[in-house]
Amino acid sequence: MSEEDFTRLVEAEQRVEPRDWMPDGYRRTLIRQIAQHAHSEIIGMQPEANWISRAPSLRRKAILLAKVQDEAGHGLYLYAATETLGADREDLTTKLVEGRQKYSSIFNYPTLTFADVGVVGWLVDGAAICNQVPLCRTSYGPYARAMIRICKEESFHQRQGYELLMTMMRGTQAQRRMVQDAVNRWWWPSLMMFGPSDTESSNTEQSMAWRIKRHTNDELRQKFVDMSVPQAEALGVTFPDPELRWNAERGHHDFGEIDWDEFWSVVGGNGPCNEQRVAHRRKAHEDGQWVRDAAAAYASKRAEVVA
Ligand code: 3HC
Repeated sequence: MSEEDFTRLVEAEQRVEPRDWMPDGYRRTLIRQIAQHAHSEIIGMQPEANWISRAPSLRRKAILLAKVQDEAGHGLYLYAATETLGADREDLTTKLVEGRQKYSSIFNYPTLTFADVGVVGWLVDGAAICNQVPLCRTSYGPYARAMIRICKEESFHQRQGYELLMTMMRGTQAQRRMVQDAVNRWWWPSLMMFGPSDTESSNTEQSMAWRIKRHTNDELRQKFVDMSVPQAEALGVTFPDPELRWNAERGHHDFGEIDWDEFWSVVGGNGPCNEQRVAHRRKAHEDGQWVRDAAAAYASKRAEVVA
């Protein structure tokens, strides 16, 4: 198959499968994006796991346990998708802990109160849903299929977060203040999850041509803002953006300028929790070496017995 044939197949909305010919660049871009997506799911377990042992009730603890466990499953699903492209999971983990591959900037912010657990569910998983539902139509088959199940679980994540906040907003003045404080800290980093503006995005044009991405960063960010404003009104909170207002002409909400210096500084490893997150992941990987060695020893013994 030639690159033109491949482009025609993708433009005809056909799925590319692991055994199909594909341009090296397409394979590389997919491994990069899916691996970083998987890293984000695994690192993303840390901020909320911080509250499992301190949840205010057994119900909240059970919900949070289920959510964090889902994130682990999403990561494993996505690493499995990278393996269909010839990537090696151990190599990807090494790249992550050595800072040679990225994970989503959002997970480098601290979860300071239990209201953060609700806001992460509502805004971070809400942003993830905006960004990931279109990926159910991405051109690479294994990635698209993985996203269908992941998106179903993300909607549980988003709903449980919003319900947690609804409960707190019906609580004491102190609880309402905790929720608004968390919203103030997480709103702008949630907008940054969608990546740089389209004019600054080095990958969007090619990813859109290959139907890996179905919408641009700015299109999805705008969708998320438009979706979140009525939810904030129903909750009784405000977003920390004096320029946020409905623009009837555009049919969308206008909003203020994102602090791109902060974004690139966090992406570059200088966010509030980058060091802690990567060190924790590195230690978990090192502590698990004996499990991997035991599994490999068992597999080779079984192979001897079976042979
Ligand atoms: N954090 C860290 N790096 C980011 C970033 C972010 N929020 N946004 C962009 N970047 C990086 C890109 O990786 C790229 O660097 P690279 O070329 O070295 O990989 C560079 O900034 C330029 O950005 P582009 O827009 O050109 O990059 P992409 O085309 O890859 O778009 C993306 C970025 C929109 C995040 C896209 O990769 C994507 O849609 N990925 C799949 C979804 C995903 O990974 N979501 C992350 C959150 S997962 C999550 O939320 C889990 C949930 O359970 C909470």
